[in-house]
Amino acid sequence: MKIRTAIAGLGRMGCIHAENLRFRTRKADLVAACDPDPERREKGKSELGIRNIFTEFNDMIHRSDLDAVIIVTPSVFHCRQIRDAIHAGLHVFCEKPLGTDLDECQETARVIENNPEQVFMLGFMRRYDTSYRYAKQKVEERYLGKPILFRGYSVDPESAIGGILSFLPKSGGQFNDMAVHDFDLARWFLKSEPRSVYAIGGCFAHPEFADYDDGDNVAALMQFENDSMAFFLAGRTAPHGYNIETEIIGTQATLRIGAVPQMNLVELMDETGIRKECSRSFPTRFGPAFLAEIQEFIDCIHEKRKPEITVYDGLMASKMAVLATESFRNNKPIVIK
Ligand SMILES: NC(=O)c1ccc[n+]([C@@H]2O[C@H](COP(=O)([O-])OP(=O)(O)OC[C@H]3O[C@@H](n4cnc5c(N)ncnc54)[C@H](O)[C@@H]3O)[C@@H](O)[C@H]2O)c1
Repeated sequence: MKIRTAIAGLGRMGCIHAENLRFRTRKADLVAACDPDPERREKGKSELGIRNIFTEFNDMIHRSDLDAVIIVTPSVFHCRQIRDAIHAGLHVFCEKPLGTDLDECQETARVIENNPEQVFMLGFMRRYDTSYRYAKQKVEERYLGKPILFRGYSVDPESAIGGILSFLPKSGGQFNDMAVHDFDLARWFLKSEPRSVYAIGGCFAHPEFADYDDGDNVAALMQFENDSMAFFLAGRTAPHGYNIETEIIGTQATLRIGAVPQMNLVELMDETGIRKECSRSFPTRFGPAFLAEIQEFIDCIHEKRKPEITVYDGLMASKMAVLATESFRNNKPIVIK
């Protein structure tokens, strides 16, 4: 039997999940969607062929023919919608981050943990990317020896800045919107929790970020309980494209993932020289990972098992983001209790 799903939010990311559920996931059916924007609702109907389209989230989740909901709305709405969907008896997949307010994240985690029979999964899709999975396997096999340092860079292309500025008020800031992927990866690879954080940053090209007490490029240094270290950069001004790179240095070896964020293996040779094109955006770099994570969510429901990513992972990544933001704003290191 197919898992009957609904999607909340038909924006950039919502359409990716909707297409995957509609056309590429055999064991699921996409029966409903909601979005307050009439153009997006029309797109859901005409381009994605979704039968039941709603304006209101709560009208949609109380349909009797639903098993699960995929939440892909602006981050400020995640926690409330997760709780409402869990209370409505649905399995829930929610895009990262878990939320933008730590108290609300904690309350949401309690609701999820009190309903263990319902599957909950957060969209940290990098854990489903084949290169990150291979690196994780190497780390588990102790190829690196003891991990010393995690380095994660996540920088959006400058060409995307228009869209980024429009969702600034609802994103939770650079650390929670962008670096949150790297915070999750650092915990995943280092297998430890942070014990201190110091963050810095600035507005180098876009003073609008200062209106939200944020920077267009921010960085953080953390030390973990097992003494390993991590360095993070989150930015929005990469001239060359979507720059996601990761390095893990160990006592016996070093691993790099996407050190040169090239789009593919093609080399272009012309009168300017020899070059490789850069990944342009998150859908091109992580398209297969978005499909793999949603298939894992559906498989978990079918097989009555839990995904590897828990609400605690979401809570910890958002906590790291909140503390990094606080450190950046006050220009002070923070020791985590
Ligand atoms: N995993 C990733 O790499 C990744 C990439 C991009 C976005 N995201 C996440 O996905 C979420 C959405 O981001 P986006 O870029 O698609 O934003 P977007 O602005 O393109 O789309 C959001 C959509 O949600 C709709 N919406 C607003 N309020 C709603 C509500 N109450 N109920 C239902 N729909 C509502 C909007 O009308 C819009 O269509 C964010 O939380 C973001 O962090 C994750």
